[in-house]
Amino acid sequence: MPDGGFAYSHLFAKHLPPPAPRWTGFPKHNFIGGHNDPARIPAAALAEAATAVLRRRGADLALYNFDGPQGYLGLRQLVVDKVAQRPAIKCTTDDVLITSGSGQAIDLVNGLLLEHGDTVILEEFTYGGALTKLKRLGVNVIGAPLDDEGLTIDGLARIIEDLGRKEIRPKYVYTIPTVQNPTGSILPRERREALLALTRKHGVPVFEDECYADLTWDGSGPPSLYAMDPQQVIHIGSFSKTLAPSLRLGYAVAVPEVLSRLVACKREADSGTGALDQMVVAEYFSQNFDDHVGGLTQTLHEKLDTMVEAVEREFGTAIEKMWYPKGGIFLWLKLPDRVDVTKLVAPAAKAGVAFNPGPEWSCNAGETKSHLRLCFALPSKDVIRQGVAEFARVCFEETGIPERSANIRRAVSSN
Ligand SMILES: Cc1ncc(COP(=O)(O)O)c(C=O)c1O
Repeated sequence: MPDGGFAYSHLFAKHLPPPAPRWTGFPKHNFIGGHNDPARIPAAALAEAATAVLRRRGADLALYNFDGPQGYLGLRQLVVDKVAQRPAIKCTTDDVLITSGSGQAIDLVNGLLLEHGDTVILEEFTYGGALTKLKRLGVNVIGAPLDDEGLTIDGLARIIEDLGRKEIRPKYVYTIPTVQNPTGSILPRERREALLALTRKHGVPVFEDECYADLTWDGSGPPSLYAMDPQQVIHIGSFSKTLAPSLRLGYAVAVPEVLSRLVACKREADSGTGALDQMVVAEYFSQNFDDHVGGLTQTLHEKLDTMVEAVEREFGTAIEKMWYPKGGIFLWLKLPDRVDVTKLVAPAAKAGVAFNPGPEWSCNAGETKSHLRLCFALPSKDVIRQGVAEFARVCFEETGIPERSANIRRAVSSN
């Protein structure tokens, strides 16, 4: 025990994540995570919305969960209206649970369905946060193949049948069907039908994460899986991507048998998601959703084009594959096999560049050492251009790739 101190280490629970390093601020060229565009945060309108809703309902903040444990009624109504429009879900406010980010919805669904040793199927490239949570739960994760349109049904069928021969029934198939993270694909309607038919046949529920579904370039998309079969699908979404991640607001939509359990689990987890955030978002978005999301999507599309141009200019033919996303905030890339991106993280960070290495976004980490994900939502166009150029320089110094940038042959620096 340290002199005069109190030692905790022997008291800590087993299997904790490693301690978080002290935060030292954001990198200059920040291409990681799912941040949003600061210029697109409607701060003044949110301030007006806050004033209006606090004048009307402020006294209700005296109560825990003043509209019941499923969340502020105004926000649940907004979710009902929003999902009716785009992914064509018919539901009522009783079918919606507001969560503290859709990350909490993932935790709740995992808590509802999973036990140590269970098996789940995810897309081979997928949301890193979902993978981390599953690893901590001691759940076996199997990656199902993707192509340019999303999950391949043949590949998924093979996996489910193989598992069946071992008498394993996966607890769910987790999919991000519209603007897949990280590839940006959109699963076509026929594949959605085939996915539901296949999983129904094998008694496997589908866990649908529609975090980015509002951010497609053409403003449209196929109906959500939940809209096609509410009984078999648990649907989650988020306001992090359409408005602001710091608000920490997401939601789950499910049939009463499932939702009542999720509500009970959330009651145990916390005493409700912050009501003021819910009130402000409902107030603002009930008037401005289409305009806001339309403007945001246009900005994101332009930033994607800037990033694609920068990547093509700086990396040229060294890019083996680029998945051009159909919406959202990420570009997923593959460099030649001999580039191990995990070895670039530290030197890139030293140069002020942060990116997400492929293995963290993949069920088969060993097969994605040359993949990486870049988020283009947060940085300005200039920062995108400078950051990609810096990253190419670091990559060349560490690996000899790319040999040419801006069509000029690179040379190893003498110092
Ligand atoms: C696919 C997906 N699901 C869920 C989340 C969690 O987001 P939040 O908790 O901010 O809603 C993210 C965040 O990046 C994501 O990409």
